[in-house]
Amino acid sequence: MLGKNILLCVTGGIAVFKAAALTSKLAQSGAHVKVIMTESACKFVAPLTFQALSRNEVYTDTFDEKHPEKIAHIDLADWADLVLIAPATANMIGKLANGIADDMVSTTILATTAPVWVAPAMNVHMYGHPAVRRNLETLKGFGYRLIEPADGHLACGYTGKGRLEEPENIVALLKDFFSGGPKPLSGKTVLVTAGPTIEKIDPVRFLSNRSSGKMGFALAEEAANMGANVLLVTSVDTLAPPAGTEIIKAESAEEMYHAVMGRYKEADIIIKSAAVADYTPVRVFDKKMKKQPGNLTLELKRTKDILKELGERLDKPFLVGFAAETDHLENYARGKMERKRADMIVANDVSREGAGFAGDTNIVTIFKRDGSKRELPLLSKHEAAREILREICREIEKDEKK
Ligand code: PMT
Repeated sequence: MLGKNILLCVTGGIAVFKAAALTSKLAQSGAHVKVIMTESACKFVAPLTFQALSRNEVYTDTFDEKHPEKIAHIDLADWADLVLIAPATANMIGKLANGIADDMVSTTILATTAPVWVAPAMNVHMYGHPAVRRNLETLKGFGYRLIEPADGHLACGYTGKGRLEEPENIVALLKDFFSGGPKPLSGKTVLVTAGPTIEKIDPVRFLSNRSSGKMGFALAEEAANMGANVLLVTSVDTLAPPAGTEIIKAESAEEMYHAVMGRYKEADIIIKSAAVADYTPVRVFDKKMKKQPGNLTLELKRTKDILKELGERLDKPFLVGFAAETDHLENYARGKMERKRADMIVANDVSREGAGFAGDTNIVTIFKRDGSKRELPLLSKHEAAREILREICREIEKDEKK
C-alpha cells in the first residue's frame, strides 16, 4: 500500500463512522488518502475528522474549486490509483449505475479510469431490493469490484446482510489487490458451467429449472481473482460476466454438451455447477403448439450426462461435480462421485433455507475421493466459491506432489 493514492468516497449512512476508522487504517498502511464526502455523509461525521485522519483537505462540493489552476474532480479522478466508495448507499449505487453525475462523488467517479471498489452498507431489505441488486450487477458489468456487506446487527434494528465490511478486512483486500494477491490458480485454465439449461418445446415454451447462475458466476469470478484463465459455459445473460472470463453461450443440455466437449482439453479444472436438464422433449415444434381438447402428453428423452462422459475420458482434467439434493445428501453425493468418476462433489441440500437456487448464499458440503468431507456453514456464494476453489487447489497440489 506504500505510496498508493486511495480516493475514499464517503456517502451518507450510519456506517460513515466506520469510514473514519478506515481512513486511519489506510493512512497507517502507508497509502496517501484523499476523501470526498457527499452532503449527507457530512451530516453523520464532520469533514474535519477525515481531514485530520487523512492529513488532506476533504472535498464536498464540485463547485468549491480551491485551486484555480486545477479542476478538482478531474484532478482527483486522475490522481487516484484506486477509488473506494465506503460506505456506498443505495442512492449512490443507483446514481453510478445510471451515469448520473450531480455531486462531487458521482462526478469524480464518472471521470476516473482507476479501479473502483464499492463497499455497500444499508438496511437488509434495501440491500435485497431488486433495484439495488440490478444496479450492483450493472456496476459489476462496468468492472467495479464489490466488497459485500457483512451479516449482523444493523443500526436500524434489523439483523441481516448490510453492515459495512470491517475496515481491517477492506484494507486487507486492497493490500492483496496491490500486491497481486495470492494467485494459486495462475497458469491454470478453469472451465465452469453455470445456470439452468433451456429445453425448447416450441418457439414460445421451454422446460427449465430454478438455477440463476449465481453459484457458477461466483466460482468463475473467484477463480479469475485467483489468477486462473476462466471459460464460463452458460445460458445466463442476466448476470454481468465476471471480469477476465470468456463466456461461451449454451442454452440446451445438448449445446452445453458440445460447448464443454469442444473446450475441455484446454482445462486443468472443470467445475460443473450448472443445473443441466436430465430430460428434453423428443420433438421440438417449429410453430407454436395450439391447445387441443383434453390432456397433452409430452414425450421426453434422456439428455447426455456431460459430467459422466468427462469422467470416462482418460485425459480428463480435475473434475468437480455438484449435487443438488433434497434428501440423503451424503449417499446421493457419494453415489454421483462414483458413477460419474468425479474427483470432488459439492453437494447442497436445496430444500434448506439459505441454500441452493437463486439466493446469494449457499450451504455446501465438499466430498472428496479419499472419503473425507468438509461441511461449510451458511456462506455467501462468493465465500463458498473461494472455499471450494481452495479445496481444489489443495487436492491438485497433493496430486502434483505424487
Ligand atoms: O445457479 P444458482 O441459482 O446459484 O443455484 C446453484 C445450484 C443449486 C444450481 C448449484 O449449487 C447446483 O447444485 N448445481 C448442480 C445442479 C444439478 O444439476 O445437480 P444434479 O445433482 O442434477 O447433477 C449432478 C451433476 O451432474 C452436476 O454437476 C450437473 O452439472 C451434472 N450433469 C447433470 C445432468 C447432465 N445431463 N449432465 C451433467 O453434467
